[in-house]
Amino acid sequence: MAGASHPRRMKVAVVGATGVAGQQFLTALENHPWFELKRLAASERSAGKRYKDALKDASSGATRWFCNAPCPKPYLELHVEEASKLVLDDIDIVFTAIETEPAKEVEPLYAKKCPVISTASAFRYENDVPVFLPGINGDHAALLELQRKNRGFKGFITPGPNCTTVGLAISLKPLYDAFGVASVIMTSMQAVSGAGRSPGVLSYDITDNVIPYIPKEEEKVQKETQKILGVLANGEIQPAPFGVSCTCTRVNVLDGHLESVFVSLKRQASLDEVKEVWRKGYQELLELKLPTAPPEMIHYTEEPFRPQPRLDRDMHDGMTTVIGRLRVDHVLPHGIKYVLLSHNTKMGAAKGAILTAEYLIRRGVIS
Ligand SMILES: NC(=O)c1ccc[n+]([C@@H]2O[C@H](COP(=O)([O-])OP(=O)(O)OC[C@H]3O[C@@H](n4cnc5c(N)ncnc54)[C@H](OP(=O)(O)O)[C@@H]3O)[C@@H](O)[C@H]2O)c1
Repeated sequence: MAGASHPRRMKVAVVGATGVAGQQFLTALENHPWFELKRLAASERSAGKRYKDALKDASSGATRWFCNAPCPKPYLELHVEEASKLVLDDIDIVFTAIETEPAKEVEPLYAKKCPVISTASAFRYENDVPVFLPGINGDHAALLELQRKNRGFKGFITPGPNCTTVGLAISLKPLYDAFGVASVIMTSMQAVSGAGRSPGVLSYDITDNVIPYIPKEEEKVQKETQKILGVLANGEIQPAPFGVSCTCTRVNVLDGHLESVFVSLKRQASLDEVKEVWRKGYQELLELKLPTAPPEMIHYTEEPFRPQPRLDRDMHDGMTTVIGRLRVDHVLPHGIKYVLLSHNTKMGAAKGAILTAEYLIRRGVIS
């Protein structure tokens, strides 16, 4: 982890700590230079238990730990609180990793007291809520002041994008700024961890199989991409004015969403120019030297058989969008096409949310 300094370590809570994204928060917060994990919360099922007991399956007794890295030992002994009763007296920031319905109830309770950085979709489409992706839409933070006034919050709610939107938006931003974007067509091949533990994907359904539909996913990616790349004016975000058309599928891969992307640019660009804007994009973000930021937000590989989920998802600990197979597309006007890979539970969820918190601290939005 890069050694950026910060005056005091902020105390943070993770809600949904037992789930797939929640567990990634725990591994990412161990030894974090700016944050100290003080409290864990989950559903009634886990409340009152020590974390190591809450991880156990009630019927089999198996421990359901999903991350490659082991659970940091001190966290195993923490008591899990019920999300709706989480005590925030000593907490500076809440990270949430729960489904939309409970998030709708508890995130406003938390935001009354402190900033809430969410992985859930509950508030993503509200007018006074930005969908942050550090390095892309930092100026959307101005909406948070309006949100505070509208809702009487001392803190605020700021969700990150859906995990499938993350890599797509990261790849599009430099293209949009340099050449303009007329339209985007994307087909995703999404990992099973993206469905979480509950409801999750049954191995019996996904083994030897591809499932060609993920409910609500395509609409989320389309709307969020336009919002993230949109312009904030007069207190609202005008969505980016290009069409986004998606097909989202679930494949037999553990982690890492692969996406086949076709972009019609507004003006002609050579493949070298495209690679150059990807290489130079995100310099401003990288110069902030945030602890969770990777050395490169985008890595372009010339190897035609890459990116591959198993080989490339953990590049820079899952924080880098790996792009390959850039070609000219002769069907779309000024068309290009490429394949990208983004780690859905790291940059696409927990570590992406932590990066957002670091960014907002560096910008003075969280103090
Ligand atoms: N998985 C990903 O790749 C990914 C990526 C981006 C965003 N997200 C978003 O992150 C959120 C969590 O996803 P996940 O994949 O981690 O799901 P998950 O594995 O199913 O975990 C769900 C978590 O929510 C808790 N929970 C369930 N019902 C609750 C309730 N009524 N009140 C409070 N907590 C409750 C569970 O606690 P118990 O153990 O006590 O039941 C568990 O900790 C979702 O909104 C998802 O869309 C996930």
